[in-house]
Amino acid sequence: MSNNKINFNLNGKDTEVEVEDRTLLVHALREKLNLTGTHIGCDTTHCGVCTVDIDGQSVKSCTVLAVQAAGKKVITVEGLADTKGLHAVQAAFIKEHGLQCGFCTTGMMMRAYRFLQENPSPTEEEIRWGLSGNLCRCTGYQNIIKAVMTASENLKNLAAAE
Ligand code: FES
Ligand code: FES
Repeated sequence: MSNNKINFNLNGKDTEVEVEDRTLLVHALREKLNLTGTHIGCDTTHCGVCTVDIDGQSVKSCTVLAVQAAGKKVITVEGLADTKGLHAVQAAFIKEHGLQCGFCTTGMMMRAYRFLQENPSPTEEEIRWGLSGNLCRCTGYQNIIKAVMTASENLKNLAAAE
């Protein structure tokens, strides 16, 4: 088992981390880089609570080796807010009560963040399909759908104001 030093852009910062060949990205993020917002809810790639953004795609970080992130641009939930405050997706989840225990929320928001760039004006059905890789035990999904709808409107208003 060899160790590798990998460099990648993590939430806008050049980052170096030492990992084994077999280290999963989710473990590198949580255990080596202390970014514990990315969670683990299964071992079969279903739940999506580990979702992060890699080079513009939603990726389940439990199903990627850390070495595969070398040279890439990775965004985790800790990178969503900026100096201006919460990202529109985060604000909408709060406003619409799109979370309870919060365990799925980080992956759910990372998926919503990318989904709304793929489809800025989604229908309810498109949101349900678009977030179908993310499971939630608490909300029954209804308020998550509302949150994504609200985030979509807010993002469009922000874009129009620029
Ligand atoms: S931990 Fe369940 S899909 Fe990654
Ligand atoms: S808010 Fe608890 S699992 Fe989704």
